Amino acid sequence: MDRSESTILVTGGAGFIGANFVIQWIANVGKPVVNLDKLTYAGNLANLASLSSDARHIFLKGDIGDTPVVAKLLAEYRPCAVLNFAAESHVDRSIHGAGEFIETNLAGTFRLLEAVRHYWQALPAGQKEAFRFLHVSTDEVYGSLGPADPAFTEHHNYQPNSPYSASKAGSDHLVRAWHHTYGLPVLTTNCSNNYGPFQFPEKLIPLVILNAIQGKPLPVYGDGQNVRDWLYVGDHCTAIRLVLERGRPGETYNVGGNTERTNLEVVRTICAVLDEIRPDHSPHSSLLTFVQDRPGHDRRYAIDTSKLKRELGWQPAVTFEEGLRQTIRWYLDHEEWVRNVQSGDYRNWLAVNYGRR
Ligand code: NAD
Ligand code: TYD
Repeated sequence: MDRSESTILVTGGAGFIGANFVIQWIANVGKPVVNLDKLTYAGNLANLASLSSDARHIFLKGDIGDTPVVAKLLAEYRPCAVLNFAAESHVDRSIHGAGEFIETNLAGTFRLLEAVRHYWQALPAGQKEAFRFLHVSTDEVYGSLGPADPAFTEHHNYQPNSPYSASKAGSDHLVRAWHHTYGLPVLTTNCSNNYGPFQFPEKLIPLVILNAIQGKPLPVYGDGQNVRDWLYVGDHCTAIRLVLERGRPGETYNVGGNTERTNLEVVRTICAVLDEIRPDHSPHSSLLTFVQDRPGHDRRYAIDTSKLKRELGWQPAVTFEEGLRQTIRWYLDHEEWVRNVQSGDYRNWLAVNYGRR
């Protein structure tokens, strides 16, 4: 089986990163994608509107934990690879209720791995060898760094601190074990914070862009000095494609933007760009509001991407300043998309998360 010639199965492909990946895959590789997504609050078919009349994109609503559905999909489409993006992905939501995180990120990944293992074990020899299961994970599994600590390498201990990161860490361990125990050819990517088009506005960057445009307060948790490494989503998708093609089975690869910023720097940069291109509420920085911190808030993440660069020649193509400008422009240009995601459900979340801060 030549992976560049056959169908792939993507899970969670109606979410932020998954949708960007599917669009990039169709544009660059051009081979069919079966997209299995439960369409939770974070899944949005509008993200895939550009593919609505493209026969190479086959969308199916369903749960990665629904074994009969996944088994049927695998038997019918016979993918050469499964890429698992599906997850509950927001730390604050995991603090308010961890159940869905355990259900999807841990139990769901386990059930998906089992269905894939049964499918893979029955493949003819050549196809079996070429098959890959790629698991999309996060740098948050490594825990929190001090200001002078070296960046996370692939050998850093797992020290997850939030229900979200603990559930992702558990899923990474399952993926690793399915390789060591059953020989399933797995690959895992651990990436830093993404930003870009289609990100649900519960996350820092789209939340701040949309609040600022609307003249609403820009909530900064704690002292605003927490540090994240930021990567433009298109660069993450390119890295995933490379790892799928040339990564070594059983290996993990850290992905990052080499762009550490404090949250305050991120918010101030967004304000400065908006002052320039949409000055209605200038100076936007006057909207900045310090609010009660997130419990257990990790202080700093930083990623050492040297393995990915050395082995596969990958490095980010988009600088933070360019990517942020493009992203702000995208949110300004997609009013209908924004209106649709800022629905009743979203307003309930804002009341839950910010009402008592
Ligand atoms: P997202 O929340 O935007 O999208 C998740 C998607 O998964 C949604 O479309 C949702 O409907 C779907 N989904 C949820 N539960 C499902 C289930 N049980 N079965 C099928 N589909 C289900 O998340 P995202 O930001 O696009 O993240 C994608 C992946 O990348 C996640 O695994 C996340 O942990 C990882 N990741 C995200 C970031 C980031 O900054 N956003 C960084 C590193 C890694
Ligand atoms: P977020 O986008 O939720 O990603 P993660 O928690 O996975 O890193 O948050 C990024 C950073 O921004 C994190 O340090 C928390 C902070 N933050 C705020 O200060 N205010 C907010 O309203 C949100 C959503 C996040």
